[in-house]
Amino acid sequence: MAVFEPGTVHTERLTLLPLRVEHAEEMAAVLSDPGLHAFTGGVPDSVQALRARYERWAAGSPDPAESWCNWVIRHDDTARLTGTVQATITRDDHGAAAEIAWVVGTPWQGRGIATEAARGLVAWLRQHSVHTVIAHIHPDHAASAAVAGAAGLAPTGEWHDGEVKWQLAMG
Ligand SMILES: CC(C)(COP(=O)(O)OP(=O)(O)OC[C@H]1O[C@@H](n2cnc3c(N)ncnc32)[C@H](O)[C@@H]1OP(=O)(O)O)[C@@H](O)C(=O)NCCC(=O)NCCS
Repeated sequence: MAVFEPGTVHTERLTLLPLRVEHAEEMAAVLSDPGLHAFTGGVPDSVQALRARYERWAAGSPDPAESWCNWVIRHDDTARLTGTVQATITRDDHGAAAEIAWVVGTPWQGRGIATEAARGLVAWLRQHSVHTVIAHIHPDHAASAAVAGAAGLAPTGEWHDGEVKWQLAMG
């Protein structure tokens, strides 16, 4: 049972489109640089592997209290896909909490795309009664820390699997 369904989110230069399996072909090229995995581990997916991954995401979490919401980031001027943002949203007694993550293809980096997309995502989560947003970020990943900070998250003292937990309480 999917409790949360991702909706289309518009920002100044971008549209966050709910991710579909058909996005796998273009996204495999966008995410083909092995350097994207420097801090998160793994290697780039082939089109086939990415399609299988997106099929699993579309099928949703086996836990009915948890929703997997994924978006591709479209650059409006060029109509090209540039990356993805995701939110794993878990219901609790006070509403819901979300863990978020982002990736932007190497040719598109350094233009503020991740920052703009993460801010749009956090605004969407706020509109959907999410009271707490968290992210786990490698301590040496300055770009990702900057994105999290710009989206309103701050580092906590908590560590998980070698990463620092960042958090935003939205009340
Ligand atoms: C993290 C990532 C999404 C940033 O994407 P991006 O679109 O280039 O980010 P932005 O252009 O919005 O830049 C964000 C900030 O990082 C800074 N930055 C960009 N590249 C940087 C680098 N190589 N080193 C240090 N800082 C960098 C920018 O200056 C900006 O900071 P500012 O707002 O203070 O100027 C991208 O590097 C990525 O996809 N990395 C691999 C996947 C990953 O590790 N994801 C994180 C999982 S939570």
